[in-house]
Amino acid sequence: MTKLSPSVLSADFAKLGADCRAVLDAGADMIHFDVMDGHFVDNLSFGLPVLEGLRKALPEAYFDVHLMITDPMRYVSRFAGAGANCITFHVEAASDISATIAAIRSLGCGAGLSLNPPTPAEALFPYLDGLSMILVMGVTPGHGGQAFQPSALEKIRALRAECERRGLHPDISVDGGVKYATTAPQCVEAGANVLVAGSAVFCAGDIGAAVREFKSL
Ligand code: DX5
Ligand code: ZN
Repeated sequence: MTKLSPSVLSADFAKLGADCRAVLDAGADMIHFDVMDGHFVDNLSFGLPVLEGLRKALPEAYFDVHLMITDPMRYVSRFAGAGANCITFHVEAASDISATIAAIRSLGCGAGLSLNPPTPAEALFPYLDGLSMILVMGVTPGHGGQAFQPSALEKIRALRAECERRGLHPDISVDGGVKYATTAPQCVEAGANVLVAGSAVFCAGDIGAAVREFKSL
């Protein structure tokens, strides 16, 4: 079954806990938590204290943390301590990818690896064994509400095929420009089983209805 991970980057920050509660009550499988450092990406978002607060408010939630930061190794233990369940970082951002994956796993979290639109799928092939999530970017990371780049579909296909060839079953997630009526079904058809959606969920008039539409895919 396809899982939905609403990205709180598009939530109403004045009522962040209530927005997270609304998507989980409507059937969302996890909460996608986008961390930006103004260096790996040009934008800043939120970080450890916000995750700590959400973890306290939502003790049963699964937090899918997406680190868009340079040198993620410096922060993985603090994000695990703040309540992350899965920590995803970028293959373009880390100096020692295998050590970062091992560190995340040793903290009891799932390890995820992401790749930007210009990065080929093959860049992830050496690391697939240790991953519980692969996060394919459908947009240049840094901002919600951008148009989906169709080149992501070929990368989802290539990564799913390589995982199957090797008997691996990580979640394959797609992030950026995912819309219920158009790009989401294409991503699922290509082999994605987790859909990250920010503006399509939190900017919808009825957040619960938007979640239920995605979950009907
Ligand atoms: C982009 C973030 C995404 C973003 C997606 O840098 O990683 O998670 O919130 O937003 P939408 O779904 O609006 O493209
Ligand atoms: Zn994200």
